[in-house]
Amino acid sequence: MVIQQFGDPSGLQVVELPEPCPAAGQVVIGTEAIGVGGVDAMIRRGTLGRSGSSTGVVPGSEVAGTVTRVGDGVDRAWVGRRVWAFTGVGGAYAERAVAAVADVVALPDGLSSVEAVTLGSAVPVAHFALAHGRFAPGDSVLVRGAAGSIGIAAVQLAVRGGAGAVAVTTSSQRRGSRLRELGATHVLDRAGDGDATAPPSFDVVVDVVGGPDLPSFLDRLAPNGRLVSVGMVAGFPPADFGVRLLETFQQSRSFATFSLSTVPVADRDRVRSESFTAAAGGGLSAVVDDVLPLDSAAEAHHRMDAGDVFGRIVLTPR
Ligand SMILES: NC(=O)c1ccc[n+]([C@@H]2O[C@H](COP(=O)([O-])OP(=O)(O)OC[C@H]3O[C@@H](n4cnc5c(N)ncnc54)[C@H](OP(=O)(O)O)[C@@H]3O)[C@@H](O)[C@H]2O)c1
Repeated sequence: MVIQQFGDPSGLQVVELPEPCPAAGQVVIGTEAIGVGGVDAMIRRGTLGRSGSSTGVVPGSEVAGTVTRVGDGVDRAWVGRRVWAFTGVGGAYAERAVAAVADVVALPDGLSSVEAVTLGSAVPVAHFALAHGRFAPGDSVLVRGAAGSIGIAAVQLAVRGGAGAVAVTTSSQRRGSRLRELGATHVLDRAGDGDATAPPSFDVVVDVVGGPDLPSFLDRLAPNGRLVSVGMVAGFPPADFGVRLLETFQQSRSFATFSLSTVPVADRDRVRSESFTAAAGGGLSAVVDDVLPLDSAAEAHHRMDAGDVFGRIVLTPR
């Protein structure tokens, strides 16, 4: 699948491309599952400044499947192994994907490829975002934008990490119920209202949303509270949002951005492997919204745009 035109999902079209050849340090993976991420939709819409992409680019960044070929300098023992891989800002919506061997992690028995692409990016982002927010047992946590794969992972990790309370924002009662099943203790609407029993303030806010309402969530930080911005699905916050922190100077609140790209690859891979093992043992849930054929990528993006996806949509080659 390539983005033939930026804009609506109809710009995603099937093309035939030659079999890829791995360069030194790379592997080729016969894909069994391809994760559809919120960032893919942003790139397709053109709202990420096209991320350096031009039309004709294959979107997607995470796949799972079996290694079919390796490039120079790569141990041939990888051939035939089931793996998860990060392909970069593109290259995943394909029957054959190429990845640097440093971005490949072996899959344990008992974890399906579909589960792997549901957890492989999201869990490390959530894990290191919580660490960036100096999350500790007993902390009250708010996950803003909890219905996506990063938010779902953050909820589960906060619960496993012994959070005192785990509140979530969602626009849907049904998704709120699903999030409660995953351990959320309070379900709020997108404005952060709707549950009078929720803590009035939070030690850690993991924020996937950004956008115009971000300043009102800075106001929900406890003294010494930390808001970690991991995504901006609602766009940038107002340019003067930092004024809210300065106006409450004596509360010692913090705002931080967090990108997984700042975490050393070995640390990311370790956390990813641990999450795969935990999921294979039933300690983490991979929440799959739907599994669609690869050539239905436009349908997957329509559903992303409609905002009714809970967790991950996964594509599989026929
Ligand atoms: N920091 C990193 O290293 C990293 C890595 C990968 C991706 N990302 C970023 O993470 C984001 C995607 O994460 P994701 O796939 O988990 O999210 P997502 O599924 O795209 O969105 C999460 C939830 O946010 C809510 N939402 C959507 N639009 C909203 C709006 N206008 N106002 C308030 N809430 C809204 C929706 O839930 P409800 O309708 O239930 O409210 C949605 O399910 C992107 O911004 C991407 O760039 C960051």
